[in-house]
Amino acid sequence: MKDSRVLVTGGAGFIGSNLVDSFLLSGNKVVCLDNFSTGKRENLKAFATNPKFKLIEGDIRNYDDCLKAVENIDIVLHHAALGSVPRSIKDPMTSTDVNIGGFVKILFASKESGVKRFIYAASSSTYGDHPDLPKIEDKIGSPLSPYAITKYVDELFAANFAKTYGIDVIGLRYFNVFGRRQDPDGAYAAVIPKFMKMLMKHEVPLINGDGSVSRDFTYIDNVVQANHLASVVQNKDALNQIYNIAHGEKTSLNQLFFFIRNLAAEFDHDILAIEPAYGPVRAGDIPHSLASIEKAKKLLSYSPTLNVEDGLKEAVKWYWENL
Ligand SMILES: NC(=O)c1ccc[n+]([C@@H]2O[C@H](COP(=O)([O-])OP(=O)(O)OC[C@H]3O[C@@H](n4cnc5c(N)ncnc54)[C@H](O)[C@@H]3O)[C@@H](O)[C@H]2O)c1
Repeated sequence: MKDSRVLVTGGAGFIGSNLVDSFLLSGNKVVCLDNFSTGKRENLKAFATNPKFKLIEGDIRNYDDCLKAVENIDIVLHHAALGSVPRSIKDPMTSTDVNIGGFVKILFASKESGVKRFIYAASSSTYGDHPDLPKIEDKIGSPLSPYAITKYVDELFAANFAKTYGIDVIGLRYFNVFGRRQDPDGAYAAVIPKFMKMLMKHEVPLINGDGSVSRDFTYIDNVVQANHLASVVQNKDALNQIYNIAHGEKTSLNQLFFFIRNLAAEFDHDILAIEPAYGPVRAGDIPHSLASIEKAKKLLSYSPTLNVEDGLKEAVKWYWENL
């Protein structure tokens, strides 16, 4: 896709800034709406002087900010949200305000201003306590955290808006995304950047549980690809759908730790001696997560490129050069 006007909400964040980067590179005009609550200005530094890039500092909970951001926009890639299961357990009110209240505001503003397509970040947490593996889009259980509830409610709103107002929507259920620019700092940091930063400082990472918990860790380039495909797909059957976006591969936390440690040790041999510590299981976490990506393959022609090990090679190198 080129020559389109794209809004990336949450564009200063990890996934959002990678989308801004990629959609600018492919010749589009990109607007970013962000309130910098978890996003960083340095993630936008590379685009600041690009005439095709515009930053709107604002909040999706403010309807006027939403209206300003969607003006003359063809496609919205909605990624602004408060991530993290533990954050939503500690403060369910703010997560709900942003992830549901803000979602409805930006969705309604998009519909009001005639946006052609609204693509949004959904989450694998929506599978909740459903036991089946791999996860198939239409088989979900009860959500296990306020965060998971917010992400599921967003899907309901999007489907309802598609029916009621005729706006095209596509939900991308991401599975544990990782890669360049994912924040290693703060109480709610994701496991891969957190482990990496600790290993670089020769600290001992803590694994929650016995390390058998598994996830379908998904490299950022696969997520970027899915957003491009969802932006251009024309087949009517592919619209107003939810898709798992993952690599389709299960990795336990133990395996993950050793992958990262061994890769990091190529830069600093002393890291090889570090063994993980183990702690209690985290509330609200699902025990295993593995995606079926058949639907995205079939309807979007999604074809993930890097698997977890190859993605980790890129990510570890990036952290080594940038932290
Ligand atoms: N990273 C993952 O593994 C993953 C998995 C599933 C779903 N998701 C979803 O993908 C999206 C992006 O996640 P991420 O990992 O890049 O997180 P992130 O925290 O790096 O990015 C979120 C961005 O949204 C912005 N934001 C938050 N509240 C806002 C508000 N009220 N108004 C405007 N901007 C606001 C933040 O400042 C930040 O720049 C989120 O919707 C998240 O729920 C992420």
